[in-house]
Amino acid sequence: MCGIVGYIGTQAATDILISGLERLEYRGYDSAGIATVEEGQVNCVKAKGKLFNLREKLEHTINHAQIGIGHTRWATHGKPEEHNAHPHLNTDRRLAVVQNGIIENYLELKEELISKKIEFRSETDTEVIPHLITQFLTDSNSLMTAIQKTIARLEGAFAIAVVHADNPYELIVARQQAPLVLGFGQGEFFCASDMTAILPHTRTILNLENGEIARLTPLGVEIYDFEGARMSRFPRTLDWNPVQVEKQGFRHYMLKEIYEQPAVVRTCLDTYINPNWHADENPDYSPVNLGLTPNLTDNLEHIQVLACGTSWHAALIGKYLLEQVAGIPTTVDYASEFRYSPKPIISNTLTIGVTQSGETADTIAALESERARRADLEPKFQAKLLAITNRAESSIAQICDRIIDTHAGIEIGVAATKTFVAQTMGFYFLSLDLAYRRQSVPNYKIGEIIAGLRHIPSQIETILDTQADAIEELAHDFTTEIEDFIFIGRGINFPIALEGALKLKEISYIHAEAYPAGEMKHGPIALLDNKVPVVAVAMPGSVYDKVISNAQEAKARDARLIGVTTAMNATEAAHTFDDILTVPEVDELISPILAVVPLQMLSYHIAAIKGLDVDQPRNLAKSVTVE
Ligand code: G6P
Repeated sequence: MCGIVGYIGTQAATDILISGLERLEYRGYDSAGIATVEEGQVNCVKAKGKLFNLREKLEHTINHAQIGIGHTRWATHGKPEEHNAHPHLNTDRRLAVVQNGIIENYLELKEELISKKIEFRSETDTEVIPHLITQFLTDSNSLMTAIQKTIARLEGAFAIAVVHADNPYELIVARQQAPLVLGFGQGEFFCASDMTAILPHTRTILNLENGEIARLTPLGVEIYDFEGARMSRFPRTLDWNPVQVEKQGFRHYMLKEIYEQPAVVRTCLDTYINPNWHADENPDYSPVNLGLTPNLTDNLEHIQVLACGTSWHAALIGKYLLEQVAGIPTTVDYASEFRYSPKPIISNTLTIGVTQSGETADTIAALESERARRADLEPKFQAKLLAITNRAESSIAQICDRIIDTHAGIEIGVAATKTFVAQTMGFYFLSLDLAYRRQSVPNYKIGEIIAGLRHIPSQIETILDTQADAIEELAHDFTTEIEDFIFIGRGINFPIALEGALKLKEISYIHAEAYPAGEMKHGPIALLDNKVPVVAVAMPGSVYDKVISNAQEAKARDARLIGVTTAMNATEAAHTFDDILTVPEVDELISPILAVVPLQMLSYHIAAIKGLDVDQPRNLAKSVTVE
């Protein structure tokens, strides 16, 4: 994780670095720092904690430097203290480095440097880099050569940016499996872990690839591979607009992103559903335009989905759909587990990585290992890799055969909301496409599911319009004294119970667990009393009665019962639940997308009322680029 940013050009670098860090703060906020080069000196300022501490320190300084690097940290090696904050300097403080990633062999390198009498000022893995570069600089005058030689000694996944007091017109960056994007302005150039940091300055960008090193000067950008061969690369222009990364009047990004969900679903429908497809006309083409080629979709015997966090919850809904609608046996694994205990190889397997950022280290590594272990096998065992991601230009997109772009727009709140809904839409589309190709359900059924999906945007609007005040009011009851919540759900809505619990944990710091409703009696029910509220996702359908019975069992143990349900069974629901979060009538198969919305809002309001940092909860980061 961590965010890095760099600037070289004609403007004052400090302001650009700080505003870039502000947009990267979602990647980590344990400390922040910048290093600029001016009048033959490196000027480095760092502060523990969030960016405003660094801002405060910089308030009364005047700095006209036109080159610099910055960093916002999510601590891996070494506590979140100022001495561990980046940038890290060499001994004579003339060279500064920021890094995102982990240098796995840093201990060995550190010992080697200590034996040469180098003194370390931090406990970080990164500090070996400035010292190593300095060692190599004594053999050669070229900063580029010294960095290349240093990189050859580093193991791990990293992105770095380097400035040197003797080279005021040179910013050098390198990428090895951690994201790094370059931005092209007029007489000014940028680098950052994520394009959001440079979007206010330019929309012309280029993603550095693994094994590439770039030299940014006021005159342009040169790109080389790690062996020094010059590369020919072309930037592209993004259609993203800087306004998308503003709060637009909402108190928090998370709230804004919850309210963007109807528009996100509309965009997904407009992008992927074929408007001319009508079930009763026996069309000879798919209702969904995902652009999947037959080598990815034909003869599938098995689908395996790999993901982390909220994306893993979307994958669980995906499993339900792929099995129940498309009829394909599907497994879902945490990417971090799959890496070290991969499943037996099955022929004709489609492997799907789900990641909103497209940069989650575990998910990428799991997909890469899947490709590698199947590489020498006969054709039916070869890897077919598909990504469901919100970042079409991300690392995952580069390693997969095809992506489903979720088109949710930039998500800034660390707790995922609109990207979860968009990923889930991606699974509906994939299931419908495969169902049509395999004729696993009749066309009229596919038509019904599509008709149901078309209602989702206005139904989410109804929830936002009619429930917001009631949910906010209800949230007040849980801001003091309550320390534990239980969420229950079954079938296609069990993942919604998981997602509701995760949202609450992430942003309100209230302990929450989710169980399949039928499992409550096998242990968790022992936790219940009047201080442990139970949220039951009770959407009408095949398991509704079962969930209601399980909820009654909880109620009999004095738990306060909150139900997420429709108005259809209002009398029964009123009899069962102490509080009801009402969602519109919906077919069970589509219900998760509606059921999640009140749970997102409940978590949001509990955290906001508690005065917590909703968009940047403690210890978390949005893009987890370390293992
Ligand atoms: C982090 C974020 C979660 C997210 C998870 C997976 O833990 O805090 O919100 O769900 O990473 O991220 P991805 O980008 O792979 O979807």
